[in-house]
Amino acid sequence: MTFVHVVDHPLLQHKLTYVRSEDTTTDNFRRLVREIAAMLAYEVTRDLPTERITIRTPVASCEAPVISGKKLCLVSILRAGNGMLDGMIELLPGARIGHIGLYRDPETLEPVEYYFKVPDDIQDRLVIVVDPMLATGNSAIAALSRLKEVGVTSLKLVNLLASPEGIEAVRAAHPDVPIAVAAIDERLNEHGYIVPGLGDAGDRMFGTR
Ligand code: URA
Repeated sequence: MTFVHVVDHPLLQHKLTYVRSEDTTTDNFRRLVREIAAMLAYEVTRDLPTERITIRTPVASCEAPVISGKKLCLVSILRAGNGMLDGMIELLPGARIGHIGLYRDPETLEPVEYYFKVPDDIQDRLVIVVDPMLATGNSAIAALSRLKEVGVTSLKLVNLLASPEGIEAVRAAHPDVPIAVAAIDERLNEHGYIVPGLGDAGDRMFGTR
């Protein structure tokens, strides 16, 4: 069963309020998303395994923990996912990066892939898929399915905001994929926007509104 972790840290929630506000400028929006993404990266890696190694401090020898297990890969769903990458890479500098581009077919409303580039060894990595908005869930579901197709077995999904509908859709399609999110909002509107949400994440991030 999908585990949904709402990261309700006051610092993150404070920043999220200003990300939502329509009065927030593009540069502040970018900075806040980057900062929130770093905090989400911190939470989503909380259960990484560690092993103890022996080191020498200037004072004495000791055993101390380092991260062990699978290496990491961040996969951004284009284009808004890219706005979350910088903050996450600051915390996870060794992670490899993949990109998946999807657009919605205007007739079928189904996601269609136009770009897919991931590291060759992605199937050996823990893959963290990032997309600010989990709205209908269609893009996230398609991205997760595609990554499973190429052999990925360890997956997590990180979003800024999610709709209850999006969470349920991902839960139904990928019950093995845990989700970390800053907030679950009320609902989707008739245009597929999260309410109250923050508007179009890509437009606000890149100033294309
Ligand atoms: N994508 C966005 O950018 N915003 C939404 O509210 C839903 C999907």
